[in-house]
Amino acid sequence: PAPGWVETTDVVVIGSGIAGLTAALNLREAGLHVTVVTKVNIDDGSTRWAQGGIAAVLDPLDTPAAHALDTEIAGVGLCDPAAVQVLVAEGPTRLRELMRVGAEFDRHPDGSLMLTREGGHRANRIVHAGGDATGAEVQRALHAAVGRDPWIRLFEHALVLDLLRAPGAGPDQPGRACGITLHVLGEGSEDGVGAILARAVVLATGGMGQVFAATTNPAVSTGDGVALAMRAGAAVTDVEFVQFHPTALVRSAAATGGADGSAAASSLPNGPDAAQQPLVSEALRGEGAYLVDGDGKRFMVGQHELAELAPRDIVAKGIHRVMLADNVDHVYLDARHLGGEFLDQRFPTIVASCRAIGVDPAADLIPVAPAAHYASGGVRTDLVGRTSIPGLYACGEVACTGVHGANRLASNSLLEGLVFARRIAQDIARDLPPQVDPAPGGAWQGGSGSVVDPAIRPGLARAMTRGAGVLRSADSLRMTAAELIALGQRRGRPKTASWEATNLLTVASALVAAAYARQETRGCHWREDFQAADDGWLGHLVGSIGADGML
Ligand code: SIN
Repeated sequence: PAPGWVETTDVVVIGSGIAGLTAALNLREAGLHVTVVTKVNIDDGSTRWAQGGIAAVLDPLDTPAAHALDTEIAGVGLCDPAAVQVLVAEGPTRLRELMRVGAEFDRHPDGSLMLTREGGHRANRIVHAGGDATGAEVQRALHAAVGRDPWIRLFEHALVLDLLRAPGAGPDQPGRACGITLHVLGEGSEDGVGAILARAVVLATGGMGQVFAATTNPAVSTGDGVALAMRAGAAVTDVEFVQFHPTALVRSAAATGGADGSAAASSLPNGPDAAQQPLVSEALRGEGAYLVDGDGKRFMVGQHELAELAPRDIVAKGIHRVMLADNVDHVYLDARHLGGEFLDQRFPTIVASCRAIGVDPAADLIPVAPAAHYASGGVRTDLVGRTSIPGLYACGEVACTGVHGANRLASNSLLEGLVFARRIAQDIARDLPPQVDPAPGGAWQGGSGSVVDPAIRPGLARAMTRGAGVLRSADSLRMTAAELIALGQRRGRPKTASWEATNLLTVASALVAAAYARQETRGCHWREDFQAADDGWLGHLVGSIGADGML
């Protein structure tokens, strides 16, 4: 549909987690008018669910070089060293700025910041808030700061549809990004489509965890930004590298959980819905909890020098191997020795999630299994967040800045959002062309294309988990691709649920294609038929959707 209404702004930011709100605040510092568009409510993205914390070098005995080394070891040869340098060097300053914005992190009685450790880190460098509620505190502080600024306009319940492009050199060569089309909920179906024209567009839409049947991501994580960028012809990269968090709580394993755990989950105040698995932070292992199999035996010892605190792809694989060998759907985390008082105080969120399903972490083993957690790849950017389309920027989980490589290091994600959102704002402020009207045709005249039936979503998620999840092979990926093609035949009517399902299908197809192409095992991409890393694959797969609509 053609837009029924049009607004203008200097910069439109899509997404309202740490990356989007940090970009908005920094753009305001540069005196620009900002419009933030978010799919549900401002706080409904992934940021508020982050438990562990933010990694930054704050201990005098720690160094940026050590943080860079840990990041690059976790990324198994595919990190961009220049991007990692930016991350570790600028991280501490960005974190202090976040504290000035109002975020309060946990401190020792002498006022110094508490620093903890997670998988893959060889130093204590992770700040946290409210014990294990870091993301909630970060989101609270950023939300409050954005709310204080009358020049940041907020559109909630608005699903972004497509990128608008200025006239370019020819009909097949669209110009720079000059806005977006969006659908505001409650404004009918296609009739409610509007447009926001802007001098630059920032994607900060988060991840795509809902592509899988088990994920720690909230319901809004449907890959909207990556799908929009692909439709617009932007380059995406590293999409095969989806990180599975080793320890999501397995609700169905608990004695008092419902058949799928969903009934138990809904009893948590503000708890994850049925589409989201509660996280059991790595910080719990950082504080001494360990993994055991059904016989109570620690299985990570001997697999890696850091045992349970190995990078998370290694721990996820260790757990998956036990699950396959023992034909079970979970293993256990043993935190009993840490004591009830410590657990209540340091991990109140995790304790509440466990209690909601009848597990007392001070007395019982915690049932856990890997779940899709983080997309290390995404829309390819340079060091200032520019994508391959002039005027289109990306930061946070939707972006691939190059810092994560084949596997993201724990607690580097909030940090990446902070660091690169500011760089984007600085780049935009340096070089912002005047507003131009969109080229006729394309998205401006309702070029969103056909959409799929939202009823395909459970089948899509099951197919992805079965064939393109923790463990993949050429056969499993071929089967998944065939299932996706069949599901894609089921057409829907243009409305929010269909647009989301279409985005999921787009990113799932890209993921399967990249996972099929990469014939090696590296980081969180695990191929049963190519079990070793192969240096011939020390490069990146880059793709987009061409003018013919093909991947
Ligand atoms: C966790 O707390 O284990 C998750 C932190 C992260 O995803 O980096």
